[in-house]
Amino acid sequence: MTIEAIQQAFLRQSEDGRPIYRRLAEAIAQQIESGQLAASSKLPTHRALADRLGVTVGTITRAYAETERRGLVEARVGAGTYVCAHNRPGWVFSYPNQTPDECNFGYNIPPAIDRAPILASAIQTLSQHPDLLNHLMLYQDPQGLTAHREAISRWLRTHGVQLDPARMHFTSGAQHAIQLVLSVFCRSGDTLLTEQVAYPGFLGLARQMQMTIKGVEMDAEGLLPDSLETACRQYQPRMLYCTPTLQNPTAATMSRERREAILAICRRHQVLIIEDDVNGLLPAKTPPPLVNLDSEQVIHFGSLSKCLAPGLRLGYIQVPVKHQNRLNTALHHHCLMISPLLSALVCELIHQGDADRVLQQIREDMQLRAKRLENYLGQYQVQYQSPGFHAWLALPDHWRLSDFVAAAEARGVVVKSAELFTPPGSTIYQAVRLAISAPHSHDKLEQGLAILAELLAQAPYPDFPL
Ligand SMILES: Cc1ncc(COP(=O)(O)O)c(C=O)c1O
Repeated sequence: MTIEAIQQAFLRQSEDGRPIYRRLAEAIAQQIESGQLAASSKLPTHRALADRLGVTVGTITRAYAETERRGLVEARVGAGTYVCAHNRPGWVFSYPNQTPDECNFGYNIPPAIDRAPILASAIQTLSQHPDLLNHLMLYQDPQGLTAHREAISRWLRTHGVQLDPARMHFTSGAQHAIQLVLSVFCRSGDTLLTEQVAYPGFLGLARQMQMTIKGVEMDAEGLLPDSLETACRQYQPRMLYCTPTLQNPTAATMSRERREAILAICRRHQVLIIEDDVNGLLPAKTPPPLVNLDSEQVIHFGSLSKCLAPGLRLGYIQVPVKHQNRLNTALHHHCLMISPLLSALVCELIHQGDADRVLQQIREDMQLRAKRLENYLGQYQVQYQSPGFHAWLALPDHWRLSDFVAAAEARGVVVKSAELFTPPGSTIYQAVRLAISAPHSHDKLEQGLAILAELLAQAPYPDFPL
């Protein structure tokens, strides 16, 4: 009976590229959730289920282990595997399936890594300190707990970012930091400069706050000093927003000389720089962030979204000393504080060495993905720097941007059009951004790249609008 129910649920799982053990684990989870597999019932032996499904015993072992990791079953030594007796609340199951079918190059997210074990371990350590947990449940200073700021800034230093724990504030990710900066330092009607193509989260927010954005020309290193000089004279901007490392979407990284040149121009024109360092920790080696070179000319922020996990929503920001109080007050007005439970979790992940291990895993995975990008699209004009998440693909002349995006989508491949990254009124590049980190597996990545290579090689059927 049980074995039949599991087999039926397994056969209903779509063959979407997930490994067999995951599909089987999902099938068992669904059976437990729907009550088909009752609490305390015994699962079939590994051998019996393997024979029934025509898979190896190893696959059953992995599926049971995955189901156990989710807390649904327990393995009893010498007795077999049993559905857990306790009632699980419905919300535990309300998350969507995390293994999407399509080849989605749309989102700049870290590659899929199993972070559940390290989170579980960090939570378990915290759970052993009830006094600490109770303290974390209180209102705190908007800046965040001193011990947490010290631990995180010490860790950032090991990655080449020099922030002063006495000045740094936590934020709810880098996007929140952008919102804070614009609301504290800018007014509607202000003109801001940014790269010729820039992060849509910044463009959208600035537009919503009725600011004018002017794009500054770029080369393979990012902002061009001469164009910045001209734009500063022409527009007298309030600020410059830029991403010196692994710029989104072009993947450009400024050399140290370029960074110094940009700083010198902004100093001369008294233009504060907003340095978005969200990707800054990804490369093992990069030129120093602008904040290391001049912390009074630079508002610096970063986050753990790319190097650890976006779901943690922990970011950090440091502003010049003279603006510190304004930032503190604004953070208080925005959200009172960032949850200290989150910063505690991050401190523990750092302390156990897991933050560094995840970062290393991300770097290694991105290197493998970069090789696949080179294999499939190496002959085209692609800007990419490992271990960045995204590549910037300039389309061959025979493709129109909107046609290419639509043709890719029709084949199940999602890419992002240059239009999304272009400030209003600027010329739109004939290019797309590919987040090669996003496809769930290397097979999916290859599948998507092969489709894109096929499309790039063929000329679209010309249409003749009347
Ligand atoms: C350049 C840039 N800045 C900021 C963000 C937002 O990051 P967070 O998830 O930390 O809010 C992103 C996210 O993709 C980004 O690419």
